[in-house]
Amino acid sequence: MHNFYTIKWESDAVTFIDQRLLPLEETYVRCTDYKQVAEAIETMVVRGAPAIGVSAAYGIALGVQSLRFYELDRMRRDFKEICDIMRRTRPTAVNLFWAINKMEKEFENLISSTGNVEHIVEGMIKAAQKIYDDDIEINKTIGNYGRDVIKDGMNVLTHCNAGALATAGYGTALGVIRAAIEQNKKIHVYVDETRPFLQGARLTMWELMKDKIECTLLSDNMSGSLMSRGKIDVVIVGADRIAANGDAANKIGTYSVAVLAKYHNIPMYFAAPLSTIDRNCPNGSGIPIEERSLDEVKIINGKQICPKEAKAINPSFDVTPNSLITGIITEKGIVYPPFGKGIKSLF
Ligand code: MRU
Repeated sequence: MHNFYTIKWESDAVTFIDQRLLPLEETYVRCTDYKQVAEAIETMVVRGAPAIGVSAAYGIALGVQSLRFYELDRMRRDFKEICDIMRRTRPTAVNLFWAINKMEKEFENLISSTGNVEHIVEGMIKAAQKIYDDDIEINKTIGNYGRDVIKDGMNVLTHCNAGALATAGYGTALGVIRAAIEQNKKIHVYVDETRPFLQGARLTMWELMKDKIECTLLSDNMSGSLMSRGKIDVVIVGADRIAANGDAANKIGTYSVAVLAKYHNIPMYFAAPLSTIDRNCPNGSGIPIEERSLDEVKIINGKQICPKEAKAINPSFDVTPNSLITGIITEKGIVYPPFGKGIKSLF
């Protein structure tokens, strides 16, 4: 439906829509070197858990391509360095590490099955392309499983951006909304602005409006009031890392929404691919939370909004305990409590 792309492989480059500039400018950033891809992830040109996984995979493919004139030993050494640089970009979304591990495995497989450098390069590009293609398919499947939680006429609340911009395409939470709309349901979406980076106001509103999906923006302190007045029927968000017991890390503010939803008896779903589930993390306390620059909190549009020396905090994610989650929508179906057991059965 929409006429933009989040990530594109171009045989000698990876191109991203610059999400820092949306919605005011639709500009694309072209990365011809894996280090530029790493920088694009780090500086949030591209963001959203599945999208940064796909980007890292393409970045690695780009890096391997630049090693095609080297001997196998040198290639191996440099490959490790490329993966290490990708790993250091952002800490919370586990999809990043999932994609890098997948590319590493593929590299080892290619080395043992063919010693030919050209074949290795080709195989790595194919592997990244597959991660991209699969992501879109997976999101559509998540949408098909999740669409029934949204009934005709419902008001849905979402937080941050878990849409086409946060994935290879279609989206996870917004994918569920898109799938429900494809069933001709009339749906209205309330969008949390999502301070401090404003993914809701800048990105979710932009992509929903592009698709002519009915939506209304609210600032982050308004959802409780809306809930108390019966204006929200269901909450659907994405996730950056889900622990083995179902505790889910997502954009800062998600936890507050979950507490409010519980108090008002409103169901709250997390929509995410299996690549977001970290089975090595028994519960949410083990999920690393990214701390970002305090300027994001203290400065808005270049303007300081507090005393210069003011203390501030900026944790970029929070963890919603499984007790506040109604269901986790995946490409293998919806998991309900007890989440530990349900998540285990997915794998
Ligand atoms: O810091 P961001 O913008 O990368 O955070 C993104 C989120 O928290 C999303 O909700 C999450 O990655 C799910 S995206 C399908």
